[in-house]
Amino acid sequence: MHSRKLLIAANLKMNPLPEGALQVDSPYRERADIDIVIFPSFLDIAACREAKFLLGGQYGHPENAGARTGDISMAMLAAAGCRYVLCGHSERRQYHGETGKDIVEQVIAALEVNIHPIICVGETEKERHTGEEKKVIENQLKGLPLESAITIAYEPVWAIGTGKTASPQDAEEMHAFIRSLLPEDKQEETRILYGGSMKPENAEELLQQPNIDGGLIGGASLKLDQFARIVEIAATMTF
Ligand code: PGA
Repeated sequence: MHSRKLLIAANLKMNPLPEGALQVDSPYRERADIDIVIFPSFLDIAACREAKFLLGGQYGHPENAGARTGDISMAMLAAAGCRYVLCGHSERRQYHGETGKDIVEQVIAALEVNIHPIICVGETEKERHTGEEKKVIENQLKGLPLESAITIAYEPVWAIGTGKTASPQDAEEMHAFIRSLLPEDKQEETRILYGGSMKPENAEELLQQPNIDGGLIGGASLKLDQFARIVEIAATMTF
């Protein structure tokens, strides 16, 4: 049993909504026992808002408005009905060159417009092999307003979209470490999600870990039957 309400998040990345996503029985729908948040592409935000999903943006620029071709701001996300935003996803760090400073600015900007940031951290395979994973995560968390209402997602880079998953023990160890880095009065309430090839086959043993408070799900969130099974597994673990 978990002391924190579980959060299951669907990160659709650069994909359209899967067939059936907006139906009445969609697994993306909000429910009472666990929190479900969907991060669709920007183009699908309006449809998801009309479907009354709890919504997040996959990225938000810290400036409110201006000459930033291709970008969308935190303020615009808030106006579009987003309550959450992903900050520092490893694909943004890798393909868009986002730095620690960018991510701090994003998190602060999100909080200013009352959007709840889910801050993604994670080490590469090489960093894990050389035993640097904790140092890397500690560095990624530096300078962030960890005393604020935030969620952290531990997503080992080598596990994202690869089918490889951190063992429940390794993930739990890292989650407990991350929790120890939070301000003492925030350690109990702050949720720390696991991400990286979470699927119905491994969701139960990951979510059973006391410091794993949910999942950030990419590939399996695009397959409605798989996502629904993960949601059901999470629901059985709730108090
Ligand atoms: P994955 O992606 O579930 O496909 O590994 C997770 C993520 O990148 O958030």
